[in-house]
Amino acid sequence: MNLNLTTKKLDANIEIILIKDKKIKENKSLLKLLKFTGEDETSVLLPELKKLYVGCETNDPDNIRIAVATAIKKLNTTNFKSAYIKCKDNLSSYVDGFELGNYNFTKYKSENPDAKNEDKNIYIVVDEITKRIQKEFEDAQCISDAVNLTRDFVNTTPDDFYPEIMAQEAIKIAKENNLDCKIYDEEYLESNNMDAMLAVGRASRHKSKLIHLSYKPSGKKKAKKKIVLVGKGLTYDSGGLSLKPADFMVSMKSDKSGGSAVLGVMSAIADLNLPIEVHGIIGAVENMIGGDAYKPDDVLVAKNGKTIEVRNTDAEGRLVLADCLCYAQDEIKDIDYILDFATLTGACVVGVGHYTSGIMGNNNQLNYSVVASALRSGELATSLPFNRYLKKTIKSEIADICNISSTRYGGAITAGMFLENFITDENKKKWVHVDIAGPAYVESSWGYNPHGASGAGVRMAIQFLNDTIKK
Ligand code: BES
Ligand code: ZN
Ligand code: ZN
Repeated sequence: MNLNLTTKKLDANIEIILIKDKKIKENKSLLKLLKFTGEDETSVLLPELKKLYVGCETNDPDNIRIAVATAIKKLNTTNFKSAYIKCKDNLSSYVDGFELGNYNFTKYKSENPDAKNEDKNIYIVVDEITKRIQKEFEDAQCISDAVNLTRDFVNTTPDDFYPEIMAQEAIKIAKENNLDCKIYDEEYLESNNMDAMLAVGRASRHKSKLIHLSYKPSGKKKAKKKIVLVGKGLTYDSGGLSLKPADFMVSMKSDKSGGSAVLGVMSAIADLNLPIEVHGIIGAVENMIGGDAYKPDDVLVAKNGKTIEVRNTDAEGRLVLADCLCYAQDEIKDIDYILDFATLTGACVVGVGHYTSGIMGNNNQLNYSVVASALRSGELATSLPFNRYLKKTIKSEIADICNISSTRYGGAITAGMFLENFITDENKKKWVHVDIAGPAYVESSWGYNPHGASGAGVRMAIQFLNDTIKK
């Protein structure tokens, strides 16, 4: 699909018409005969009239995205080669709907039934193309591309996407966007006392990688803020010796979603041309079993010297993130905000459902502003507050801290509070933890998100970057 912005009414095959608030204004009797009421996520194609009607709950951005995604999916079931839609406002939501709704992961299909849709031309018709409108169009495309790139990474199987590959993808993104890129191997982790991260990857035949991408505004533009994004990049999570049951292991290729989202953001950052210094740090690791595996009962020492009693090797993401967070704060000074993205706990999915991310940290105000950015971007998120009572449940009798809680309730929050141990006093109020375990990967389509990876985290992070410039 090629998306075009235009002011001319074109002689395209089909006109897409969004029916907002169920207010049908034309072809009423015909649409009634077809039992089309303008219901959300429904559409009806009248080929002879060259019209595609799509229900759109209200004119809100997310309803537009869903309706436009419904339209492109319907068009993709036909051989019509072109279509147009009139757009009065919310241009970026139209772009999102087309670009995110059109996504299909076909890497492992021997025949790609969607190949014929690749040359479809879609025109968004606006009254005039000002500089601002053109930028809104291009930025929305750039962000959608980043989301779709993240989806591709996450959907790729663990045998095709292991830490080394994740590092290569980072190098590719850096080259294409003129970013600085450092890849550290296990020798570096060892000599820098990152034993928590090292232990998790020990039983894998794939060596762990620490990835650090950075962007600094070019030319005369001075960075107004310095923001660090840290991602959990578990290219596979078998659970380790605390092995996952068969049903729970399926889909654990998605445990690299946080790291993949950080890669996605970094792929867009240069084109968005924001006056912010942005660092993307990813712990790329595979959690496997074997004679060399780390064990429940081990005590690990993290980069900041804190000792961790391992009681469950499936709570591995927090061990990797612990060292990555330490690395970030040791290497980068005067951070304004540090956000981590991780498919950290099943408990977060139990708590808030599949479609919502959990936002945690020590600064309620900052948590709320991340929630607000997420919602503005079209992602669902909610704040999960820390408290002193749950904090006590991750104490250890033999080490400084335990990698699991003594209670099975509140698991998303106790995981977040574990991470807090690896945030320096200076950064305590600048850090936010985002648990994307729910929305990152869902095995059925929802709205404009497909079966599988959604690219969760990318739009919320970019919106947060945009919103901080205004602060
Ligand atoms: N990667 C999982 C969390 C997860 C679960 C992500 C479901 C996506 C969907 C994480 O490493 C994990 O296994 N966490 C454990 C923690 C427990 C052992 C304290 C969990 O959630 O069960
Ligand atoms: Zn795990
Ligand atoms: Zn995991």
